Amino acid sequence: MCGIVGYVGWREAETVIVAGLKRMEYRGYDSAGIAVVTADGVVSRKKAGKLVNLETELVEHPLASSHQGIGHTRWATHGGPTDENAHPHLGRTGRVALVHNGIIENFAQLRAELVADGVEFASDTDSEAVAHLLEREVLDGHGLTEAMRRTVGRLEGSFTLVAIDAQCPDTVVAARRSSPLVVGVGDKEMFLASDVASFIEHTREAIELGQDQIVEITPDSVAVTTFDAEEAPVRPYHIDWDLSAAEKGGYDWFMRKEIFEQPKAVSDTLLGRIGADRLLVLDEMRIDVAHLRSIDSIIVVACGTAYHAGLIAKYAIEHWTRIPVEVELASEFRYRDPIVTSRTLVVTISQSGETADTLMAVRHAREQRAKVVSICNTNGATIPRESDAVIYTHAGPEIGVASTKGFTTQLIACYLLGLYLAQIRDAKFGDEIASLVRELEALPAKMDEVLDDLGTTLALARDLMDCSVVLFLGRHVGYPVALEGALKLKEISYMHAEGFAAGELKHGPIALVEEGLPVFIVVPPRGRDQLHDKVVSNIQEVRARGARTIVLAERDDAEAERFADVFLPLPTVPTLFQPVLAILPLQEFACEVATLKGHDVDQPRNLAKSVTVE
Ligand code: AGP
Repeated sequence: MCGIVGYVGWREAETVIVAGLKRMEYRGYDSAGIAVVTADGVVSRKKAGKLVNLETELVEHPLASSHQGIGHTRWATHGGPTDENAHPHLGRTGRVALVHNGIIENFAQLRAELVADGVEFASDTDSEAVAHLLEREVLDGHGLTEAMRRTVGRLEGSFTLVAIDAQCPDTVVAARRSSPLVVGVGDKEMFLASDVASFIEHTREAIELGQDQIVEITPDSVAVTTFDAEEAPVRPYHIDWDLSAAEKGGYDWFMRKEIFEQPKAVSDTLLGRIGADRLLVLDEMRIDVAHLRSIDSIIVVACGTAYHAGLIAKYAIEHWTRIPVEVELASEFRYRDPIVTSRTLVVTISQSGETADTLMAVRHAREQRAKVVSICNTNGATIPRESDAVIYTHAGPEIGVASTKGFTTQLIACYLLGLYLAQIRDAKFGDEIASLVRELEALPAKMDEVLDDLGTTLALARDLMDCSVVLFLGRHVGYPVALEGALKLKEISYMHAEGFAAGELKHGPIALVEEGLPVFIVVPPRGRDQLHDKVVSNIQEVRARGARTIVLAERDDAEAERFADVFLPLPTVPTLFQPVLAILPLQEFACEVATLKGHDVDQPRNLAKSVTVE
């Protein structure tokens, strides 16, 4: 997820664009850049690192005056955070400049075509390929808007593009597919942005762009058409948010925003990794297939929420590949003198890619000659840089300290890794893998169903906000969900919350149960041996002792609902994928309780987003 700005009007473009990027720096902050049209053509400046680096560059190398330009603050997906990979990207003649938010799935094919055409790439990004394609259309005599239309017809994946042409004065053109883009309508000036935060100080009149639409703005006009050159309805609206809310997309917290971003984050994490026959395509797995076929054990190493994702990965990877999987807390791993050989595959999971405990585990594993695959959400972070291979999640920057979309996209990456290993080791037939991949592809829509039905969860938060203890129970992959639900509640509401394996309750923890004690129970889908029935028995055990049971189960699971004081229904998915849905109400519950208690949900006490000390 990146931040994009476009401007045309009477103000100095550089001033408007840099200020707009500042308002969106939370969307991505590993590099930034600007391009404007001046009397000498398109001029651009771009720098890796925080936006302040670009500002310094602009002081040292100022741009000539301009009233037309584009800007970008990046969250790297293809290509690390370097000056060269920063946006904007220019065509090879420098006539056209472009910024991009999203993932071009057919990037490799387009790049090969352009290289064969004699184009020399200055960066590793998918976005630069689009800049070259667009300029080629302009040089063929098409106006910028028509050139954009012809270009997007070549692209697959998710993309929002904004471009300028040195020979097209007072005009900025954009195209939108999947990644957000909104027009700010001013007085003799127009704005384009990933979200309204970037221009809200200048105008509150906006136009939302729809899927597969192209917009051409000039100081006095906005023209919206479809990718097929048809007139598109213009939907103006008035922004009634203040600036702070605008930066959170209208949500009260970044955490809440990120909870609701999860379906798209999961879609983006799947993008480009599923082949036409629904077999896995993990280009980034830079580990020799023969070596992966030879591994005889896997150790997953992580901390906190990422560790809970690892616990779920164990069930999936062992079931699909029959390779033994251990899951270790990174802070414990290297001190227990682990058995690691060259046939061990160590998988680390880290949203930030900077967690010191996990980084030390990577170094220890590599000293033991094991190959290390990292699952990470931060392109170019230390942990992926020190690993043999990386599977990036594409959740976009996660600002809230309590991890939400980081967790669900880690699960997706773990599932992809497990299925990929099963595929290359012939542990599962292609049709079995394809069937599971179809279930993965169906998850975002089912996540939306859950997120559209959180009324009961919000009411429950009001009921339970003053409780001193809350328990969470689950079995099989529901057990790590119970642990994660407890962690979410602990870390932002500061209430005592604990997750248990449901089968473990009778071995001690059931002594905690007393009248009115709230107990969340995650019930697995039916059909997996006695798993379901055993958990229903656990519900009865705690209910018989006075607990208030909050049951998460399949929508039509009447047996589980029978013993629920509060029932939170879930769409049906395969057992191993249920955590992606079951965690959603628990995230929102924690967020709402903490909000009602008046806590700073995004920056809870004593915590940091990335723990870079051991
Ligand atoms: C999760 O809500 C916490 N913020 C914390 O447990 C976090 O998951 C842990 O510190 C690991 O961080 P990482 O994924 O960036 O390595």
